[in-house]
Amino acid sequence: MSDTPPPFIPFSKPNISEAAIEEVVSCLRSGWITSGPRMQRFEDMLTAYHEGRRALCVSSATAGLHAALLTLGLQSDEEIITTPLTFVATLNTIVLAGGKPVLVDIDPTTLNINVNQIERAITPRTRAIMPVHFAGLPADLDAIYSIAKKHGLRVVEDCAHAIGASYKGKRIGSFGDLQVMSFHPNKNITTGEGGAVITDSIDTVYAIECLRFHGIDRTAAERMGKGGSQYYDVVGPGYKYNLTDMQASLGIHQLPELGNYIEARTRIAKRYMEAFADWPELVLPAAPDYAHTHAWHLFTPRLSDKAAVGRDWLIEAMKRENIGVGLHYQAAHVFSWYRRNFGWQPGDMPNALQAGERIFSLPLFPTMTDGEQERVIKTLEKILHKR
Ligand SMILES: Cc1ncc(COP(=O)(O)O)c(C=O)c1O
Repeated sequence: MSDTPPPFIPFSKPNISEAAIEEVVSCLRSGWITSGPRMQRFEDMLTAYHEGRRALCVSSATAGLHAALLTLGLQSDEEIITTPLTFVATLNTIVLAGGKPVLVDIDPTTLNINVNQIERAITPRTRAIMPVHFAGLPADLDAIYSIAKKHGLRVVEDCAHAIGASYKGKRIGSFGDLQVMSFHPNKNITTGEGGAVITDSIDTVYAIECLRFHGIDRTAAERMGKGGSQYYDVVGPGYKYNLTDMQASLGIHQLPELGNYIEARTRIAKRYMEAFADWPELVLPAAPDYAHTHAWHLFTPRLSDKAAVGRDWLIEAMKRENIGVGLHYQAAHVFSWYRRNFGWQPGDMPNALQAGERIFSLPLFPTMTDGEQERVIKTLEKILHKR
């Protein structure tokens, strides 16, 4: 018998077509490799994809969240209500934009923010609600927007997981206030690193254009293109958050494939659901009762009380079998900086705390083969049932 380990199955893998690679090469040969014609083209494609709401490309969703929150003009310690079950970028950008994150626990079924608890977290200092569409499952946006309207709040949707998902027949990002997408390599589409802010406010478009490039009131194409002027004004201190044309070259070929990618992700998620349906050791992702389509960025079961092993042990055991398993996420309110600065205690958000201790992300990517998925299921079965 051979001792060769089976090939590694990553938890996520980008799917880069030959056309995308050729586009990057053409970009490199074109003489314009940073923000220019290809970024503009990708931006126009994203705008069309979100039904004409303007997309502004940025260097990451983190940059996009930061810039989007800065457009709210937060006064010191004004509050933004969000969820603890998210990547720390959600909370960090609130702090970096001068605000204070206020957490509302998750709904233990959907793992999204519990909309029934939002109103009691509102104070005179609250400025916005920031839902995260966890794993690609849309949060209950009607409920969130109606609370926002009642209390005069803005809504900034962290859509890092959710491009391509829909809520009550409408694509995420095609309606509402402000949305931010991520094009990190493990997301539904990728530009290597990258992101986009979506808005229908002309003022916000102008503000983000300035914020993403040094506060300069004119784009590179306007300054350096044919007939452009080298003069510009600085309307405020800005950041360096622009997306390069090399990155946009990937996006131009990723976006048209998004529907196919989500179809493949949905098929794989459905197969996991069927395989695990009667496993008492697992709590499976559950759907809310409102109409939606899931982008299946992540497949995140949780260990139940019946499991004889702990989550961290399980992840290590899967790794030993050459299978990558992710952890999305430890509840954000347990991290030391937040606890020190906001006095949060682990028990403040019991549902997020428990989810964060029991959740794990199984491999899920569009090119995953049936054979690879079978191996993940069989290995998990062995680990869960045989110890
Ligand atoms: C919920 C959430 N928000 C924001 C981000 C930040 O995205 P980016 O890596 O594009 O900055 C991530 C990234 O994983 C995320 O999962």
